[in-house]
Amino acid sequence: MPKFIHLRSKSSSALSENDVTDEHVYKNRRTLLKQLGFIGASGLLSNKALAGPFDWFKSDDPTPTFKQQALSFTQSNAKNYPIPSTPESIATSYNNFYEFGTAKDDPIKHSQSLSVEPWTLQIDGLVEKPITLSYDDLFKTLDLEERIYRLRCVEAWSMVIPWIGFELGKLIALAQPLSSAKYVAFSTLLSPEQMRGQRNQFVGGGVEYPYVEGLRLDEAMHPLAFLSVGMYGKTLPPQNGAPIRLVTPWKYGFKSIKSIVKISLTDKMPPTSWNRLIPSEYGFYANVNPTVDHPRWSQARERRIEGSSVFDQERVNTQMFNGYPEVADLYKNMDLRKFY
Ligand code: MTE
Repeated sequence: MPKFIHLRSKSSSALSENDVTDEHVYKNRRTLLKQLGFIGASGLLSNKALAGPFDWFKSDDPTPTFKQQALSFTQSNAKNYPIPSTPESIATSYNNFYEFGTAKDDPIKHSQSLSVEPWTLQIDGLVEKPITLSYDDLFKTLDLEERIYRLRCVEAWSMVIPWIGFELGKLIALAQPLSSAKYVAFSTLLSPEQMRGQRNQFVGGGVEYPYVEGLRLDEAMHPLAFLSVGMYGKTLPPQNGAPIRLVTPWKYGFKSIKSIVKISLTDKMPPTSWNRLIPSEYGFYANVNPTVDHPRWSQARERRIEGSSVFDQERVNTQMFNGYPEVADLYKNMDLRKFY
């Protein structure tokens, strides 16, 4: 292990107030937003309206060419989830988004000219009412709320991130699934002109594009399954999956597909990108499970990235379902060693 990685050990993996390293920054940001009257206001602010007051964001905004906007949302669920402990600057610069390259800093370096407006998200397949959402619709079709979730990557690092968005199940319900629908298939934008990894197999890590993912319909309808359109009080930056990405906090991070253009209900288990690439290592379910090791490394512990540098990591025990036991019922009577 390289010497410069700063690791601290801790007996419990439970998150506490002490885990928080940037809480004061977060609280200050929220207070400022409140003072400016942006929290609780409805609708989305235009870039123009943000130009003055939101120059303030520039101090910690690593995405100078991509314009983010402040979002208004409720905080109703925040109290049920961990307090954010990963600084925004880290969560938006240490990323996996192979469409832009396989190095952790490739997404922030190569995604800033991704065009998200206009955007079209289609919800189709085995539904009564197919839906097409435009970029603006993503922010106004359902009420936005903040969810602070742990994100556990299969590579054994983790973060805690304040997302803004809505429950996936609420969107699916609007489309009225037919009784024959059993699975939900997701697809990322295919745009080789904009995504260098889609132009070149080597840059894109050998993934067959578009990146695809899937959930069982009952998993997708679980209230924890979330579609995120923002993080840290603003719209998503491209490297985190603008303008809309999935967040399933009880599953390994590769399930949380970014920059989604299509959500299709189907009666067959859909293909998933990592399963297609290395089926012996990545299954369809991908539930966080400390007792089932990856064939090449242990999943019992994780490195939580929480300090001011990506090398400021704390080793904690990985929890079953990443610490979200409310999903356990979805998998009763299933052998999770077999269905990994
Ligand atoms: N979605 C797409 N389209 N392409 C990707 O390469 N990487 C996945 C997931 N979603 C990926 C993706 C992986 S491996 C992880 S761990 C998370 O995104 C990382 O999300 P983050 O960069 O916001 O932390």
